[in-house]
Amino acid sequence: MSASLLERYGPWALVGGASDGIGEAFARELAAAGLNLVLLARRAPLLNELAADLRQTHGIATRCIAVDLTSDGMADRVRRETADLEIGLLIYNAGATHGAAHVLDKPLEAALGLVALNCQGPLSLAHHFGGAMRERGRGGIMLLSSLAALSGGSYTAVYNATKSFELILAEGLWHELKPAGVDAMCLIVGATRTPSMLGSMPSFADYPGLMMPAQVAAEGLAFMGRGPVCVAGAHNRDIARRLLPNPRAPQINALSAASAGIFGKPGQDVAGEEF
Ligand SMILES: NC(=O)c1ccc[n+]([C@@H]2O[C@H](COP(=O)([O-])OP(=O)(O)OC[C@H]3O[C@@H](n4cnc5c(N)ncnc54)[C@H](OP(=O)(O)O)[C@@H]3O)[C@@H](O)[C@H]2O)c1
Repeated sequence: MSASLLERYGPWALVGGASDGIGEAFARELAAAGLNLVLLARRAPLLNELAADLRQTHGIATRCIAVDLTSDGMADRVRRETADLEIGLLIYNAGATHGAAHVLDKPLEAALGLVALNCQGPLSLAHHFGGAMRERGRGGIMLLSSLAALSGGSYTAVYNATKSFELILAEGLWHELKPAGVDAMCLIVGATRTPSMLGSMPSFADYPGLMMPAQVAAEGLAFMGRGPVCVAGAHNRDIARRLLPNPRAPQINALSAASAGIFGKPGQDVAGEEF
């Protein structure tokens, strides 16, 4: 698997939200596969420590960008700081919600912050890096979503809605970019033992079916290029199949054909595996 990841997505990957949890696990797996890494998150000391470890252990090159993905000018800064690199893989990992409350019981700013993190952020970075990948005819974009994206519900309504945006965006990118040689995919994650989830809810450690970050990252990378949606973990796949009972690829093809028909655009079917 290692050689093929480097071949398909090297020489550089960018992990957004790389300083701990699932993002750190992606960084470790990609470094072991020989990809150079741009590590992005807010906490510079953690990024620098991880980067030094990965350089020493795997002999890869690294670059750290300490930036808040919700800040104004984030995408411009990332563009500037990576202008000299060939980024063949974008993994947009950051995006958990911390805490639960009814929409109207939290300030609007908190909801708009989630929109910036889970909608504006992935769209801006996918738009920038995806354009270069399409020109090169190779590359990969993975957006992390959640089982929570598969339905509306109380207490995390804005989170669920923003994670749905990532799912639907990744599916559309999958259909548009696959013919150009670029793999886009949504990785749907269920309960996973990450520092940010444990930090917001210590009892989370006992949650049934809890996955480890390394398992999630390994399953996601193994599915890259095979289909539009990957769900990490057998237990989570069972839940996802109940919430998303229709196969995704035929549904995406049908909706794409309908849009092509309405707007007089060319249409084509894209083949992909189901999760
Ligand atoms: N853990 C779960 O149970 C679970 C369940 C379903 C879905 N997911 C999805 O899995 C992904 C990872 O979740 P997670 O639990 O590891 O927590 P997370 O808070 O989404 O991600 C943690 C990483 O993202 C960085 N980060 C968070 N906010 C950021 C911001 N505004 N700007 C830049 N970097 C930021 C953190 O570093 P800094 O603090 O240094 O910035 C850290 O490296 C998310 O997309 C989440 O929705 C997780």
